[in-house]
Amino acid sequence: MYEVKIIGTGSYAPSNVVTNDDIAQFVDTSDKWISDRTGIKERRISKDEDTSVLSTKAAKLALENANVNPKDIDLIILATATPDYFIPSTACIIQEELGAVNATCFDISAACTGFIYGVNIATQFIKTGQSKTALVIGAEVLSKIVDWDDRNTCILFGDGAGAAILQRSDEKGIISVYTGSDGSGGEHLECPAVPLNNKFSGEEKSNDNIVSMNGREIFKFATKIMPKCIDEVLKNTEYNLEDIKYIVPHQANTRIIEYVAKKLNIDLNKFYMNLDRYGNTSGGSIPIALDEMVQKGLLNKGDKIILVGFGGGLTFGAELIEWRI
Ligand code: ACO
Repeated sequence: MYEVKIIGTGSYAPSNVVTNDDIAQFVDTSDKWISDRTGIKERRISKDEDTSVLSTKAAKLALENANVNPKDIDLIILATATPDYFIPSTACIIQEELGAVNATCFDISAACTGFIYGVNIATQFIKTGQSKTALVIGAEVLSKIVDWDDRNTCILFGDGAGAAILQRSDEKGIISVYTGSDGSGGEHLECPAVPLNNKFSGEEKSNDNIVSMNGREIFKFATKIMPKCIDEVLKNTEYNLEDIKYIVPHQANTRIIEYVAKKLNIDLNKFYMNLDRYGNTSGGSIPIALDEMVQKGLLNKGDKIILVGFGGGLTFGAELIEWRI
């Protein structure tokens, strides 16, 4: 088995900034309510760039930072709930845009845990020798599927993409992975796909591709599962929480992260947060945060970090990583 490390990251978000006050223009809410309940102050909302465009821009920066030629990428995994098309996969569109002609490309669906799942899949491909250099992207244009009349949800989400290049290595970069799913909670966060309408299916069903959420249930789930993920990913390793420099959580809500920090008795400053500026970008949230940390020079060679996420499905997972750049 080979070892796997991250050798570069990149991120991109649309330039259009939408503040809480902007949203209060069309739904009954306020900057105070949104800030107090979620920590979100503003988010980026795409006017004309779809998921493949955001992804390609993030991926180009990751390739540049990793000093990798697109032709050397042999695997592209895009984690998204908001693809450009059902067919082709958005990963194939990104491949064409990058000129990554030697890659096998596919999309995965794990909502906000998508990047964690994607890194896990790429790690397995590389460990077994199937792949040498992989591009993993988490990206969303959630604004396409948000119900802009629903104040319970439209305040939460933003658009953006983050990417990482993973490579075969002699050094252990991905130390351990923990993932899971709980389909019994699927109804708490939903966006229907195309309904079953055909010549034989009877009365035509309406096509409503918008997000609905039971916020309280997701809140309960998140505060239960995040501490478990952190515990599990450290289990059977030589590390404990004191060895971890940063935890990079899914950026959904400051209150969720505060709750987790308190429950595990971890200094809140160990949790990197940028959700005040991006909102919840679902699959994009963890890799955007990770890239921002790299750009700020917060990560040094040898640092141990944990990525931890939860999302629709329900899905959850964590990765313990030694930074090797
Ligand atoms: N502005 C003003 N009032 C609002 C708004 C709003 N934007 N949204 C809801 N309210 C009202 C509700 O209507 C309700 O009013 P009522 O008491 O008269 O019925 C009141 O505020 C309280 O509503 P709750 O839903 O109980 O508010 P809560 O404190 O739970 O906060 C929130 C809601 C922020 C969604 C919270 O439940 C939460 O963070 N849940 C986690 C969900 C999450 O982060 N999802 C992200 C996507 S999922 C993912 O990333 C996997």
